[in-house]
Amino acid sequence: MKLEYRNNELHCEDVPLHELFDEFGTPLYVYSRSAFLENFHAIDRALQGIEHVTCYALKANSNLHILKALAEEGAGADVVSAGELALALKAGFAPERIVFAGVGKREDEIEFGLKEGIHCFNVESIPELQLLSLVAMRLQKKARVALRVNPDIRAGSHPYISTGLNDHKFGIPAAQAAEAFRTAASLPNLEVCGVHVHIGSQITRPEPFVETANMVASLVRDQRAAGMPITHVDVGGGFGVRYKNALRQEGLPEEAEDSPPPSAPAELIGAMLPVLKDLGCAVWLEPGRAIVADAGLLLTQVLYRKENGARRFLIVDAGMNDLLRPSLYNAYHQIVPVRLETMEHETVDVVGPVCETGDFLARERVMPRTKPRDLLAVLTAGAYGFVNASNYNSRLRPAEVLVNGDRVRVIRPRQTLEELAS
Ligand code: LLP
Repeated sequence: MKLEYRNNELHCEDVPLHELFDEFGTPLYVYSRSAFLENFHAIDRALQGIEHVTCYALKANSNLHILKALAEEGAGADVVSAGELALALKAGFAPERIVFAGVGKREDEIEFGLKEGIHCFNVESIPELQLLSLVAMRLQKKARVALRVNPDIRAGSHPYISTGLNDHKFGIPAAQAAEAFRTAASLPNLEVCGVHVHIGSQITRPEPFVETANMVASLVRDQRAAGMPITHVDVGGGFGVRYKNALRQEGLPEEAEDSPPPSAPAELIGAMLPVLKDLGCAVWLEPGRAIVADAGLLLTQVLYRKENGARRFLIVDAGMNDLLRPSLYNAYHQIVPVRLETMEHETVDVVGPVCETGDFLARERVMPRTKPRDLLAVLTAGAYGFVNASNYNSRLRPAEVLVNGDRVRVIRPRQTLEELAS
């Protein structure tokens, strides 16, 4: 993110974060426009020279203004619901650059995708192929299909966000792939065009990607030999980002890393290219996190300090309903003071106001000492942040603002009590 201290005041691009607090209050999601556009271009450039489409995975952050900016820059879209498809179309993504994934597509969602003429459905089971064929027949359309194959590869990330093992619900097991391709080819109104894989999220090393690319390449060769007209491979998303030491600055503690820092997405993609580039297929990607995660932060205010037994708590005004990742995955987000006033560090639990013990943003965290009314920035919160926000405890959903240089635009106003109670 375009995040730096200027005179000990944290700025997003050219905007001091405390000014955003003065104007919009907290909790507040803050995004840097140039950060997510640069992330998108770095990924897209990694595929320069081969026919490709970089589809942004809307599930990471589906704010319409962010979508519009990415669509304008030429991104495609990876959607998983009628809602995401409607947002993608409204944002201006070309239908022929939209893929529809998801293990549980409903009939009305399939119909929507067919009527809009999307590029293809990433199909996850034989029964789904059958339904797709029936709906396409009814509408007198051809449904383009990529089969999502489950490669049984260990991605090495959190078990909740690994998707490519045989005992996960996703995809068609590699051993059944040939049968599924035959079924797809035999069903009316289907046009088999691709192979799809996605092995998980927050993957930081090249090896699982290379293994997956090899598996995809041999599947494409086998299926072509069997007469399938495979024209594209979609190797999914999953490129990891840096959560620890996202911001380094004198006065901030160095965060202990348990694994080597993530390879850049362009390197992870680059590692697959030798395998993919000569397949004679267009390469499609579906990154979400790597585009928006480090382009966003959650701004929150310290409400109280308290000590219970041996534990010291900072109670802040953002909770698990605003940012669920720490509670759900024990995910780590660096938290830094907006005004860096002291070199003195302390160990605290940063917790929210929600009535759940699991409502925390950080536990046993070494941080510069702060006091009530100070502002904190929870970093790398642009992906799987606001999209998972809820009204739990009837708390209002936070506002979102977009920074572009020294300009700020509200891209989602804070929910109001009237809206909540209507
Ligand atoms: N394609 C498919 C089929 C997916 O299931 C996903 C993510 C993506 C692409 C995008 O993956 P990415 O590039 O963002 O890693 N809520 C979790 C992450 C769940 C990911 C679900 N699928 C988190 O907060 O870490």
